[in-house]
Amino acid sequence: MQHIELTSGRSMPALGLGTWKSARGEVGPVIREAIRQGYRHFDCAAAYANEGEIGAALRAAIDAGDVTRDELFITSKLWNDAHRAADVRPALEKTLGDLGLEYIDLYLMHWPVALKAGVFFPESGADLLSLDEVPLLETWRAMEACQEAGLVRSLGVSNFSATKVEALAADAAVPVSVNQVELHPYLAQDDLIARCGAAGVHCTAYSPLGSRDRPDVLKKAGEPDLLAHADLAAIGARHGVSTAQVLLAWALARGTSVIPKSVNPERMAQNLAAAEVKLDADDMAAIAALDGGYRFIDGTFWAPEGSPYTAESLWA
Ligand code: A2P
Repeated sequence: MQHIELTSGRSMPALGLGTWKSARGEVGPVIREAIRQGYRHFDCAAAYANEGEIGAALRAAIDAGDVTRDELFITSKLWNDAHRAADVRPALEKTLGDLGLEYIDLYLMHWPVALKAGVFFPESGADLLSLDEVPLLETWRAMEACQEAGLVRSLGVSNFSATKVEALAADAAVPVSVNQVELHPYLAQDDLIARCGAAGVHCTAYSPLGSRDRPDVLKKAGEPDLLAHADLAAIGARHGVSTAQVLLAWALARGTSVIPKSVNPERMAQNLAAAEVKLDADDMAAIAALDGGYRFIDGTFWAPEGSPYTAESLWA
């Protein structure tokens, strides 16, 4: 397994298991199985509402001697309703309690969007706060204090545009190590990856398989299906691997880390094995040609009527 050397000085396994959409009641056994298969990097978030069960499974795996804490790389994310400076550490402490850990390896600001305290998801613009009311730097400074207190080893962001990453990196005292964003052949975001890299920020690819199990509210009619693309399937057939493995091998070959979600033991093993799949230059060129700038997670849910955010301002 390749590792990514983060600007923080810490090392992260390049392929991890995503846990968004992994339901309570199934995610615990999935974590145990993943650790048995050799997964060491787990991507979590308070908003996924499953950290308690993940934590119980991590503790059980450690107690059983399947893995040590040091061998694990655990990411979590600060939800948007806790961006005020005073709310950041309590939110991280809740995650640490749920995960049953004394520290996490990476803590990300989940979105560059602030919600009013206690609002999980906005129903109207009145549920949101603007970035003038709660600047990203206010949130970041409180995250830095959490790192200084030893609660987290590296810090980063998610769903940040290049411009937002550059502004934050310029002001940050603790390096912005990671920007976790949607990346797949329909949304390759070469410019974002290059600009983040120039700022010392590594990009992690979320929804690398197209997240077709995402909730209906996040789906649009007539969306393209990555896993059904004939060109990707043909590349897979040439290498004797699945389309999903082609997608993951492509993500790793271009230097991003990648966090496919699966709750199925066979697909989990297949995804982990994709770290050994080597694509050639022709494959990479053919996949690059599929880029159409298509977002599955387009952020329009942060822009109800009256919101201080628009889809354009979010990604600008
Ligand atoms: P499942 O959890 O039943 O395996 P993403 O990582 O882009 O969010 O995509 C997750 C979706 O892709 C889930 O529906 C997951 O289903 C499915 N999936 C995960 N791995 C594979 C695979 N190797 N082949 C096909 N589908 C997969």
